Amino acid sequence: MVAVVSNSLSCLAIGRVAVMVTLLVLSSGCQAQLSSTFYEHTCPHALKTIRTVVRAAIARERRMAASLIRLHFHDCFVQGCDASILLDDSPSIESEKFAKQSNNSLRGYEVIDEAKSAVEKTCPGVVSCADIVAVAARDASKYAGGPSWTVKLGRRDSTTANITLATSQLPRVANSLEELISLFGSKGLSAREMVALSGAHTLGQSRCVAFQARMYGNRSDIDAEFASARRRNCPPLAPDGDGNLAPLDPVTPNSFDNNYFKNLLKKKGLLQPDQVLFNGGRTDNIVLEYSRNRLVFESDFASAMIKLGDIEPLTGSAGIVRKICRRVN
Ligand code: HEM
Repeated sequence: MVAVVSNSLSCLAIGRVAVMVTLLVLSSGCQAQLSSTFYEHTCPHALKTIRTVVRAAIARERRMAASLIRLHFHDCFVQGCDASILLDDSPSIESEKFAKQSNNSLRGYEVIDEAKSAVEKTCPGVVSCADIVAVAARDASKYAGGPSWTVKLGRRDSTTANITLATSQLPRVANSLEELISLFGSKGLSAREMVALSGAHTLGQSRCVAFQARMYGNRSDIDAEFASARRRNCPPLAPDGDGNLAPLDPVTPNSFDNNYFKNLLKKKGLLQPDQVLFNGGRTDNIVLEYSRNRLVFESDFASAMIKLGDIEPLTGSAGIVRKICRRVN
């Protein structure tokens, strides 16, 4: 009898310990891990379906590769990679699309819509918009001649967006090198990873409004001929000229390569946040290394993109899988 009582007491104790451990694990925010095989059984053709849509979009317009890579960046830097960037304005949502850094500038939303509706046809309600953005960015890099990588999956979509956070946490053209390093540091990315990711500016275009101040300043960190050529298509204080485009890498704007870094050595960075990476500061040697070694750049870029995609994902039962990426179900 005594033995039975003590036995049931110890069972009770063990039961309590188990409950406490479970509570501890839950309260420590233990999250499901992202995994590259997340949709293997639930939507086996998801990646192929996304790839087909992305490939067609880039074939229609080569710049779209740049736009899709940037979309993933602007998603992940604001409350994590949760597709919050895709939410349109609604009575309960103030869209991040209108943050200064993205307004009239960020692109690719329609391509994500197209990929989402293609995936929804075969596996309704399974594949998140956040994962589609991450996969599209990887495919875009590959189709532009850049590196590929294995995308981890299982992110879920937010039910909220935060334009205030977008405005404060996305980098700006006026940021100094130290501000940029600390901004990326706050997202768990090192200065080296920041330089590698900035190499995405090997692709795509910028509007005059983003580089106008740099071209008209009397500065020593810019090649005079380059500045004069850019000024011709970017008149001073001309609102009409604000939307004129210039390539971020004028040598090979549609190919993913390391010319971006070679341009910086010649003081031909289009944006101020480009040239600050090579202007006597502590990232000079990284730029130099990437300008000399394309393979090292591409491998670092791929690793940094994986890390970017790991920023604060919603997993498990957090968030939702949106049926339409632009609005909450
Ligand atoms: C380091 C801080 C960064 C700043 C201040 C910055 C700023 C900008 C600006 C001002 C533009 C031109 C936008 C316009 O005029 O419409 C741009 C374009 C672009 N950015 Fe960044 N960027 C940064 C980092 C990144 C990163 C980390 C990525 C991706 C991993 C990225 C990818 C791109 C791409 C691909 C474009 C061209 C987009 C297109 O043509 O549609 N940028 N960026």
